Amino acid sequence: MIVNPRELMEDAQRNNYAVAGINATTLEGIQAVLSAAEELGAPVILSHAQVHEKYAPIDVFGPLLAAFAEKAKIPVVLHLDHGTQYSYILKAIRYGFNSIMYDCAHLPLEENIQRVKAFTESAHEIGISVEAEVGTMPSNIVGMGGCTEYGKKIDRIEDYFTDPDIAGRFCRETKIDMLTASFGTVHGFYIEKPVLDFERLRKIKEASGIPLVMHGTTGVEEEQIKRAVKGGVRKFNYFTGVATSASLPIENKIRNAEGPLYYHEIAQCAADVMKVQAKHMIALLQSV
Ligand code: 13P
Repeated sequence: MIVNPRELMEDAQRNNYAVAGINATTLEGIQAVLSAAEELGAPVILSHAQVHEKYAPIDVFGPLLAAFAEKAKIPVVLHLDHGTQYSYILKAIRYGFNSIMYDCAHLPLEENIQRVKAFTESAHEIGISVEAEVGTMPSNIVGMGGCTEYGKKIDRIEDYFTDPDIAGRFCRETKIDMLTASFGTVHGFYIEKPVLDFERLRKIKEASGIPLVMHGTTGVEEEQIKRAVKGGVRKFNYFTGVATSASLPIENKIRNAEGPLYYHEIAQCAADVMKVQAKHMIALLQSV
């Protein structure tokens, strides 16, 4: 069933757990995420990123995601990840998304504040929750948020971090529901081992007073993820780990096939592998 994001986040705040926000770019991805959460009896945030429009066009995927989310036996929030374009966001809302990340982090701060504030006012009028970002998360996925080049080492990751004072002002003025904080993670695979800045996280939590979101969860050590949950992160965005997990098993399946291999068998293999991956992350966040 689709549930109110604000109520889910309030429950996570009260009970010190976090919810996995997993991007699904294929039918198998949707099945994997929802069946993982159902098997664990945990809530989940089913995400669609604007940058994946090419693979999962929202006019087809929006209604599909909504149908699966409604049918699910666990609480589901339908979330638009890194929405940058107003018309795209409106489409997502029309298809039933009840949580929107309006990503203006690449813009100058004052413009980020002004745009997110105006959007949040309208979104709240119609019961939509808003996530936004200050500081910019670097990216090692082509096209996903951030502003770095694929495979290029970042010299000073601290330059991308969220400033706690600015985070406080940003949340007070925009009245958003969730804040994406940058404190050591990167979208996609890491070139260097990530080391999260927990002191900064503590200050951001104190200054913002709202549930925090960590992007770039793939490749972060489990102990650091658990510490981040304790530190106030209530939503962990997870994608690369799930989306790449099926490649090797599929390769093996194709190589070892003794007869004709139907595509639905390959798709099923992908769904099974991605489910295991999603389950592992959901369980780690104490949301079961
Ligand atoms: P990863 O792909 O690094 O797990 O990050 C996903 C993400 O943050 C989506 O917004």
